[in-house]
Amino acid sequence: MKQFSTLLTDLTDGILLITINREDKLNALNKTVISELDEVIDELYKDPEIKGAIITGKGPKAFVAGADITEFKGLNEEGGKALARRGHEVFNKIEMSPKPIIAAVNGFALGGGCELAMACHLRIASENAKFGQPEVKLGIIPGYGGTQRLTQLIGKGKALELLMTADTIDAVCAEKLGLVNDVVQTVELLEISRAMISKITSMAPIAIAEVIQSVYAHFKDGIDGFDTETELFGKCVATADFVEGTNAFLEKRKANFKGQ
Ligand code: COA
Repeated sequence: MKQFSTLLTDLTDGILLITINREDKLNALNKTVISELDEVIDELYKDPEIKGAIITGKGPKAFVAGADITEFKGLNEEGGKALARRGHEVFNKIEMSPKPIIAAVNGFALGGGCELAMACHLRIASENAKFGQPEVKLGIIPGYGGTQRLTQLIGKGKALELLMTADTIDAVCAEKLGLVNDVVQTVELLEISRAMISKITSMAPIAIAEVIQSVYAHFKDGIDGFDTETELFGKCVATADFVEGTNAFLEKRKANFKGQ
């Protein structure tokens, strides 16, 4: 894997750990981070050695404290739209990844940081994690999908409350709202995230990819998610892994999935 200037990567046992590495700026998302995330997610799509990924932030304080506010200076309307479009492109790529991606949220997940965590398939938070969409304090709205994904995850009422008050909530509150899947001790965050992603990647890879596609079909305009499910169920039944999974059950042994 190539060296990145704002990301650290480590591939162990098929799990790619992606660490956003701008600790002195609380891992704020500047243009380079967004481009490098784009590149590393392309690698994840392409590289058969990579089965899934964890995204986290460097240091004890922040996952990501938002988009890099220094890059907002002098932005005009067209520039603003381009910034949002680029964020959507990269975060949609994360969301629609056929391989599972977990956000291990190790501190502040504000603005673009909360949006990045929400673009991942699952979120595990350390006890010190803090979530919020404070954009209205800056005179803007979230531009990396926050108005949509927050509403999908926690519902309209609470989403509007967080988006309009700019309140920051702690990990326990985020779990209560359904914004995170689990809250764990800070020292265990990576270990538990790894265990979760390893459990998922031990399942049939095509079935995992189709679960992701089928669930997200629910949120696509003009698409009947039940039709998508029917199509993808049929596709899974036609795989060798389906034969292997059912045979393994009947023969009382562990399945050996090949992703075929
Ligand atoms: N963009 C650019 N730089 C950021 C940043 C962001 N979103 N968030 C933090 N930083 C930088 C700070 O400017 C500071 O840099 P400096 O040392 O060169 O001055 C450094 O990271 C440390 O942040 P600091 O504010 O000193 O830490 P803190 O512990 O006092 O406060 C936060 C932490 C997260 C509450 C505070 O940094 C903050 O409010 N950040 C912005 C959050 C935000 O509005 N995000 C949404 C953006 S759309």
